[in-house]
Amino acid sequence: MAPAGCDARKRPGANPLAGRANSPYASDMIGPRLTPLVESLPATVPFVGPEAQERARGRPFAARLGANENGFGPSPRAIRAMAEAAADVWMYGDPENHALRHALAAHHGCAPENIVVGEGIDALLGYLVRLTVAPGDPVVTSDGAYPTFNYHVAGFGGQLHKAPYRDDMEDPEALLALAGRSAAKLLYIANPDNPMGLAHPAETITRMIAAVPKGTLLVLDEAYIELAPEGTAPAIDPEDPRVIRMRTFSKGYGMAGARVGYPHRARPLICPFERGPNQFGVCPPSQAGALAALADQDWLARTRASVGASRERITRIAAESGLKALPSATNFVAIDCGADGAFARAVLAALTEADIFVRMPYTAPQDRCIRVSCGPEGAMQAFGRALPHALGAARAKAASDR
Ligand SMILES: Cc1ncc(COP(=O)(O)O)c(C=O)c1O
Repeated sequence: MAPAGCDARKRPGANPLAGRANSPYASDMIGPRLTPLVESLPATVPFVGPEAQERARGRPFAARLGANENGFGPSPRAIRAMAEAAADVWMYGDPENHALRHALAAHHGCAPENIVVGEGIDALLGYLVRLTVAPGDPVVTSDGAYPTFNYHVAGFGGQLHKAPYRDDMEDPEALLALAGRSAAKLLYIANPDNPMGLAHPAETITRMIAAVPKGTLLVLDEAYIELAPEGTAPAIDPEDPRVIRMRTFSKGYGMAGARVGYPHRARPLICPFERGPNQFGVCPPSQAGALAALADQDWLARTRASVGASRERITRIAAESGLKALPSATNFVAIDCGADGAFARAVLAALTEADIFVRMPYTAPQDRCIRVSCGPEGAMQAFGRALPHALGAARAKAASDR
């Protein structure tokens, strides 16, 4: 991905300073010698962060509801633990994440060797792809699914095959069939998914695991699982070699900025994880905070209740404007704006103009929706005030474009 300031239109291999006669570096002979694979990648920014948008707009957002963060925040016990551990940042974090790993193993009823802790699912997906995907290797995902996985696959030269959503859900049968046809090394599914927020029941995932083609590893991204209804997470033998589950402290536990996630699976794949990745990826406050958050299951239960109420609130706000919200198993709600992607993009632009940060799916027909994160009452009120005006602005634009 291109950091802010990278020129996305740059010709591969070109030194952007070449031609600036008075720069001491203005020569095509000077500059990074990227690999041919990286040279071939388009410069892309997967998500333009709200901070970058605020800088561009010259003013802050009034409601931050676009990144599926958990605005109800972490457990007060986790905050205390992180504050106490802040003085320890002169040390590298324990590379084995020993205490957290053992606590997670006890929580999930598996061995510590079935778990490895890393800096969030995003990074862990990158490590997984690096461990398993060589240039040209086939990988399967859904068209319009969580895109970070795709960036990793592209970054390591994998060949992405995409199955369309069906009825606004990732389609297990189509994914399995495509994995079989393409001899995929990895098959990615998020349950519940992002960006639509719907969940398959546990039995569907269990059937999917049973049907995974030989040679394919099912990557089950359960980022939102703590917020999903009972019966969404299947019981899986931790030594089952056909599946790797990805979990995070970013969503239910409200610690997205701490960057703590963990794959959970059979030992033969956990061991290689310890060989490649960034051994000091999780800092002492993040380790301490996650440990305290895991121990505070009462707070997680309160969060589930707050998120549930907020989902209903967003659904009501949508209904008041004549829009239908999709049922959600996550801490965000997809609202069907009732027309095509261009119309939903106009609604989103008008909300942004009104200082409300939300996002939307990229792929049709899911891009008829905007995606709104759950959050505290103040943010809900701001969104509720802005939505009718945003719809009015989008309708006016649609009429003038006709
Ligand atoms: C499906 C899915 N997986 C993973 C992530 C990122 O998780 P983490 O913060 O642990 O990197 C997100 C974040 O929005 C997500 O929606």
